[in-house]
Amino acid sequence: MSTPSGARVLCVAGSPRRHGNSDTLLERCMEGVRRAGGEPDVLVVADAGISACRGCNACSRTGACVVRDGMTTVYGRVDAADAIVVASPVYFATVPAVLKAFYDRMQPYWARVHVLGEAPPGRRPGALLVVRSGGDPFGIRAAVDTTRSVFAVLGLDYAHELAVEGVDAPGEIEGRPEALTRAAAIGAALGSATRRAG
Ligand SMILES: Cc1cc2nc3c(=O)[nH]c(=O)nc-3n(C[C@H](O)[C@H](O)[C@H](O)COP(=O)(O)O)c2cc1C
Repeated sequence: MSTPSGARVLCVAGSPRRHGNSDTLLERCMEGVRRAGGEPDVLVVADAGISACRGCNACSRTGACVVRDGMTTVYGRVDAADAIVVASPVYFATVPAVLKAFYDRMQPYWARVHVLGEAPPGRRPGALLVVRSGGDPFGIRAAVDTTRSVFAVLGLDYAHELAVEGVDAPGEIEGRPEALTRAAAIGAALGSATRRAG
């Protein structure tokens, strides 16, 4: 008899800047995943060779993306995940272009359900860890709504949100221990996640 393994958690690093504030939150989150017996799978979107959606709508005919690039192997990792966490800075009120490119490439999941009539995917938890300097008055609403829109097509419940304002230079997040603790707690919750029927 096999021992049940922990959840596989796709951990998406959404910043083009390595070792910045959102990366640190994601690392703490991954510690939580491991503590709960889960298995983090790290995806650094800025390094993954993900190009922009072309809007060709080929996925509305076949359910698959015709663009062959770094995203081609990432689809399998999205499918294999029992939970997904996205860590991102706010860029001009929404997510950075590298993360938005990843998001836009989720169009095949939308097409399968809404054009091709396939059954919706099973439910699984999702989380957003978002950081910002607070240097503009437009907040995080656009980043949250964009992420929720993507989560919806992936069958992800928007189960956890951690928003940290007032961090800008790399390392500033270290001065926010409550946020680091909360990121670890979110990871622990995701690390024991199981999928439910759609
Ligand atoms: C191009 C760019 C746009 C930004 N836009 C915003 C913004 O709209 N609102 C905000 O509060 N902070 C904004 N910031 C600040 C970042 O969100 C902040 O530096 C964050 O801590 C960076 O996270 P990271 O270290 O994970 O990359 C912006 C930074 C850059 C480089």
